[in-house]
Formats: sequence, C-alpha cells, structure tokens
Amino acid sequence: MSNSRHFDVMIIGSGAAGLSMALRLDRGIRIAILSKTLISDGSSLYAQGGVAAVMDSGDSFDSHIEDTLKAGAGLCNPDIVRHTVEKGPEAINWLIDNNVPFTLVDAAHPDSGYHLTREGGHSHRRVIHAADATGKAIENTLEQQVRGRDNIRIFENHIAIDIITANKLGLKDNHCYGAYVLNRNSKKIEVFKSPFVVLACGGASKVYLYTSNPDTSTGDGIAMAWRAGCRVANMEFNQFHPTCLYHPDAKSFLVTEALRGEGARLLLPDGTQFMQNFDPRAELASRDIVAHAIDHEMKRLGAECVYLDIRHKPKEFIQHHFPTIYSRCLEFGYDLSLQPVPVVPAAHYTCGGVVTDISGKTDIDGLYAIGETAFTGLHGANRMASNSLLECLVFAASAAEDINHKYRQIATLPELPDWDESRVTDSDEEVVVSHNWDELRRFMWDYVGIVRTNKRLQRAKSRIDLLLHEINEYYGNFRITNDLIELRNLALVASLIIRSAQTRQESRGLHYTLDYPDMDTNHPPVNTILIPGKK
Ligand code: FAD
Ligand code: SIN
Repeated sequence: MSNSRHFDVMIIGSGAAGLSMALRLDRGIRIAILSKTLISDGSSLYAQGGVAAVMDSGDSFDSHIEDTLKAGAGLCNPDIVRHTVEKGPEAINWLIDNNVPFTLVDAAHPDSGYHLTREGGHSHRRVIHAADATGKAIENTLEQQVRGRDNIRIFENHIAIDIITANKLGLKDNHCYGAYVLNRNSKKIEVFKSPFVVLACGGASKVYLYTSNPDTSTGDGIAMAWRAGCRVANMEFNQFHPTCLYHPDAKSFLVTEALRGEGARLLLPDGTQFMQNFDPRAELASRDIVAHAIDHEMKRLGAECVYLDIRHKPKEFIQHHFPTIYSRCLEFGYDLSLQPVPVVPAAHYTCGGVVTDISGKTDIDGLYAIGETAFTGLHGANRMASNSLLECLVFAASAAEDINHKYRQIATLPELPDWDESRVTDSDEEVVVSHNWDELRRFMWDYVGIVRTNKRLQRAKSRIDLLLHEINEYYGNFRITNDLIELRNLALVASLIIRSAQTRQESRGLHYTLDYPDMDTNHPPVNTILIPGKK
C-alpha cells in the first residue's frame, strides 16, 4: 500500500523562515509544514537579542548596509545586502501586523514607539526585540497564525530523509517532486509528493561539542540539498557566539550580545578589561573578533572562562530588559546585578549553506532554501548580530512571492516509488551511532574550532573520512532512525566544513588559521563554492 501524501508546497522546517513563508503563500495553496520535533522547537524559539532593521529616523539603509558589509569581511553580495536591508522595515511591520509583542520604549504608552537595542558591529541602535526572548515572541505568534489556517497542515515529529528529484527517478528534467519522510511516531517512512519543496531546516551548529543551538540544528537541509545535487558555499564560516554561560549544567545557555549593547564589559579573571586591546570598538566589535579575543586570552592565561559584567545598570533595568537571562543566571547562582557572570564562546551560527538566488531558488527546479540553511550572500565571512532573523523573514517573503506566481502552471507529477526497506534489518548495535556522534562533535570542536591549522584540519579530515565510511555502511544495512538520519547529515556537513576550511588559505572573518594568519589582499575575495561530484 502506498504511503503517499500530496501537497502544492512542502516546507521542511517550522522556524521563523518556514512559518513566515507558509503565511506569505496564497491561501489557495495546500501547504505541508514539517517539523522533526514540535512545531516551535528550533533556533528561532531561542533567539534573544532581536531583529535588525532600520526603524529609527536617525538611522539609514546605507548605514545598515555598510555595517553588514564590514562585518562580512569582503565576501557579502552587495545586491543581496541592499535587498535584505531595504526589505527590513516591511518585514518588521508584517510581524507587528501579525501581533508580535515587541518591547515599547514605555510600556504604559503604546504610542511611545518600539525600543531599539544595539549589538556588535551595528553603528546605530536598530535591533527591535521582545525583551530578551524575541524568538519566542515571534515563533509563538506565527505558530498561532499557521494553526488557524485551513490550507496548512502541520506534521510534527516528521523528519525528512531525502529529496526526491527527477535525477533520482531516472527522468530527464531538473525538477524535485517531494521527499521521503520518517514519521517518528509510527516509525513508517512516508512519501510526500509536491512540486515545490522548501528547505527551512536551520543550521548545523550541533556539529560542534559546545553550541548555543537546540538539538534540531544538525544541518539536515544542507545535507539533503547536497545529496540532491545542489551547490553549497562558505561552509568554513562557522560563527562562535562570544558569551555563553559557563556552567556544567547550563548547556551553553546564551547571554545575549544586547548586554554589551547596553554597556556590559568583558573581564579577565583578575577583573581587567581587555577588548580594547583587540579592536577600537571594544565589546561592540563584530562577533568574530570578540570570540577570537576571548579564545586568545583564555589560552594565554590557561583560564576556563572570562566574565561579563553589567553591574553598572540598575537591577530594575536588568530585570526589565533581560528577564529570561536574569532568572536563568540566578538558577545557577549568579545575580547579574551583583556580580559578573562566567562566559565562554560556543558554536552559534552556520554562515554558509545551500546556494540560492534572491528568491531562495536552489540549483534544482522547485527546490528552495531559506533561513539559516541557505547561502544567500548576505553574511559573507561573518554574520552581523540580528541579521539572521531578518534574512529568514525577507527571503521567506521573496520565495513565497516566487511560488505564488508559479504554482498554477505545474503539470501532473510522476508516480513516486515507496521507500525500499527490503534489504535492511533492525540494528543490534545502536551504540555505533551514539559513539560516532560524540566523536564527531569532539574532533570538530578540537580541530575545526575558532583557531585552525593545516595539521588540525588534516587530522579532522582523516577522521571524518573513516566516520563517513562507517556511517554509510551502517545506513545501507539497518532500518533508519531519527538519530541515524541526523548523524549521517552531521557527518556530511562536517566533511563539507573541513573541505571548505582546507580550501581557504588565508584568515578572513570567522575562518582563522595559524598557517595563514593574514587576509589575502593580493587577490579579490572569493566564496568557497563546492559542487557535488567535483573534487
Ligand atoms: P530554525 O528556527 O532552527 O528551525 C529549523 C526547523 O527545521 C525546526 O522546526 C526543525 O525541527 C526543522 N527541521 C530540521 N531538519 C528537519 C528535517 N530533516 N525534517 C523535518 N524538519 C526538520 N538571530 C537573530 O537574528 N537575532 C537573535 O537575537 C538571535 N538569537 C539567537 C539566540 C540563540 C540561542 C540561537 C541558537 C540563535 C540565535 N539567532 C539569532 C540565530 C537565529 O535564531 C537562527 O539563525 C534562526 O532562527 C534560524 O531560523 P530557521 O527558520 O532558519 O531555522
Ligand atoms: C544574541 O542575542 O546575542 C544573538 C543575536 C544573534 O545571534 O544575532
């Protein structure tokens, strides 16, 4: 019996990118939204600082563009930066129209305007936010909206395994036709048939041992697109957030950059301020510079962490602007208003991804990538703070507009074969998956982290080659599970990161290597574009 479902558009991922795209599509379109866990779980839910956009009359598009280009260290696509920045105010107004409760300047006066905060790399206050839980406010609001739409069906606990393309079916065209999906409740593999498939799967920061990201960030979208034949770019640029709470039970809980935007200082264990030695913008330098400086100082002193100090602000201010962080730190015994908190960098954001155009279109007809999964050219070698949610919203809207124009012209889809499980058995050694998962994340942290060398990258390459071989063999012989799907994707993404890092023989933005410590200024800057099937 066929396990087939049919939709006009299939969106894989229910973060800010996926949900906002679903809401931007025409109401006559039948849409499936998939989430491998619950609808709200993903990085979007945990976003703290806010969304960057020009909302203040003293600010300008040119200034936001200039800051983004500067943070991106020569690798941003200026046309994409301008497109994103100029669409920013519309994206924010769309959220406001959808009732996202952004923080006002004065809560008692609704016409006081929205409070704007500041983060690293921005030369103006331009980050609109909902206290320190902006992602939760956006995600919960959008979830409520999609749940109210008759044309949208939500599939929670459904993990996409692979995209079905014409090429895989032996057809001559370049189209995608749907995806194979594991229903984690029934454990059955279902066929989702759709002429438009949108990868909105988030990033891949779980490839590192320490990360601010939730468990969903396993690079599934990037891995599926690569296996389907799409180009992937700039995977060496992994962003490490400078300030995650240092505590064995805190799971790298993020302490937003907006604290530094409000004047918080970074201190060495002896109480000395140090950021001014690395950049004239000190604590408000871009993230690559701050994370690198912290890593440098920790290694120099053999320190386990540095400290973040916001004691210059009154307790009421801290509790009002940072209620989530204040109470979370308190749970671990730190009162932000009385003492500096220990912080360390952790993997935070995947700047590279699936190559797309300005409408989110990939190399395969009908296949789109948006949000953190995509490489649009916005971030270059380093993403500026709060430009990610902005990118999710702007490109979800552009991709929806493209599909709204096209969906009526689609001819009948071909028959899609069921998933073939005739040659696999249940695994008797699940430990292989958990062991490889741990090993992978540890060597990526040790060898492909904030500071790289040729030797470390070569070590990582030898290990990933072995792991890929073992995982692929296991994948071919045993019934697949959620953990195996994620491990297979993480291993593939790790190999793309290592390959990209080995290709870049200079230090630029988030890619820093002791073997080539300087930026190559003799040649024009180039993106690292990997093409499936090519060495
Ligand atoms: P996500 O929100 O990560 O959603 C991915 C979705 O894809 C999830 O629903 C997941 O279940 C689903 N999925 C993944 N793989 C599959 C699969 N195989 N099958 C089915 N479903 C799948 N950015 C800012 O601009 N401002 C901030 O203040 C900010 N703060 C942040 C704070 C934290 C702690 C973190 C982790 C990130 C922060 N970022 C911030 C970055 C930003 O939140 C993310 O880049 C952005 O939310 C990504 O949105 P997304 O929709 O692309 O993916
Ligand atoms: C933060 O709030 O510090 C995170 C912002 C971001 O990742 O853009």
